[in-house]
Amino acid sequence: MFKINLHEYSLFESFPADETELFPSYRKDTRQYSEREYNKFVKLNTVSDWSQLSWKDIGKPFEVKNLAKSRLDWENENGRSMDPKTSWRFFNESFHEWFQKDVPKEIKEIRKAFLKSLASFKASQVKQTLKELGQIHIWNYAHRIQDGIWDPRGKRALFEGLDVKKPRILFLGAAEGYEALQLAAMYPDGEVILVDYDEYCKTHRFKDFPESYPFLGSNPQTGSSKVWYKDQMNIEYVISDIRDLPYGKEFDIVLSVGLLEHFPDEIKPEVMEWHRKFCKDSGYVIMTTPRAQLHSKLYYEIMADVMNHTYRELMTIEQMGLYVYENGFDIIRHGFLKVHNGIIAKVK
Ligand SMILES: C[S@@+](CC[C@H](N)C(=O)[O-])C[C@H]1O[C@@H](n2cnc3c(N)ncnc32)[C@H](O)[C@@H]1O
Repeated sequence: MFKINLHEYSLFESFPADETELFPSYRKDTRQYSEREYNKFVKLNTVSDWSQLSWKDIGKPFEVKNLAKSRLDWENENGRSMDPKTSWRFFNESFHEWFQKDVPKEIKEIRKAFLKSLASFKASQVKQTLKELGQIHIWNYAHRIQDGIWDPRGKRALFEGLDVKKPRILFLGAAEGYEALQLAAMYPDGEVILVDYDEYCKTHRFKDFPESYPFLGSNPQTGSSKVWYKDQMNIEYVISDIRDLPYGKEFDIVLSVGLLEHFPDEIKPEVMEWHRKFCKDSGYVIMTTPRAQLHSKLYYEIMADVMNHTYRELMTIEQMGLYVYENGFDIIRHGFLKVHNGIIAKVK
């Protein structure tokens, strides 16, 4: 099918292609949704009064316990438990590799290897290639077919309607920075600061994030839709522990994606404090965490060697919201997307 690459035609800059297309390693999706369709992408505000929820009623999050083999091997070799920062490096290197894969090509190759292993009659080889086949298929489904990890339409629906202009956005534990780039497209001409203490995130995860990936956002001149690309945004990548950041309450949006669930309950108040500390009184704290649902549990089971290097919980939106509420935030929007819970809050 013939497609115009709008990025190459600045004349059409403010008319984004309303389309989706599968690339070897990701899905491009600049489809708009109508007001009527909005609720398909985010299920909003299921809790009417947070003060009525208690841990006794909703229970605590589900802890993912099956650790990646590379972490277990490291711990055996080093005779101690892996520290969080090292575990993040293991995770980031491992996860990044999957975003780089040419998935259709890999599926073909692993299928071939599987058939070969069957012919070899070696149970260990059959088991290994079967596992690889399961992993590549689940990745293909979760990341390319469903686009559940980046989930641009779900996140746009969650992030819509914020009262910010040219916002300063701080992303805590940014990895490749996806959600801040999306916010920067929706609320343009601001500034993005990505923070991660794992340097690999800057040198690989962010750097290798495809420059041709289109973020559907808005044109500040006309108010109409516009597609933005990474290289058109004002982004600074800071390598630092969040605890050492020099900033004050100066950001319009403080964001974290998949951070809170990596800390046990005794540390969660500190994590919430990290968000409060940098957010203007008029600003927004935006957080997402992976959902506790059957297919996410299955995903972390099958993808254990790829994903499970760190302490990790899966939670419901009620559990996530109660952590946010108990730690002194006003929840102004909450909901769930395909695989994540999302909360927009204000500091009380
Ligand atoms: C699970 S990742 C975020 C999810 C991300 N969207 C992804 O695709 O991997 C969390 C990130 O937070 C970073 N991180 C964790 N604790 C941190 C800290 N104290 N200071 C800075 N970065 C931290 C880790 O290095 C990791 O890259």
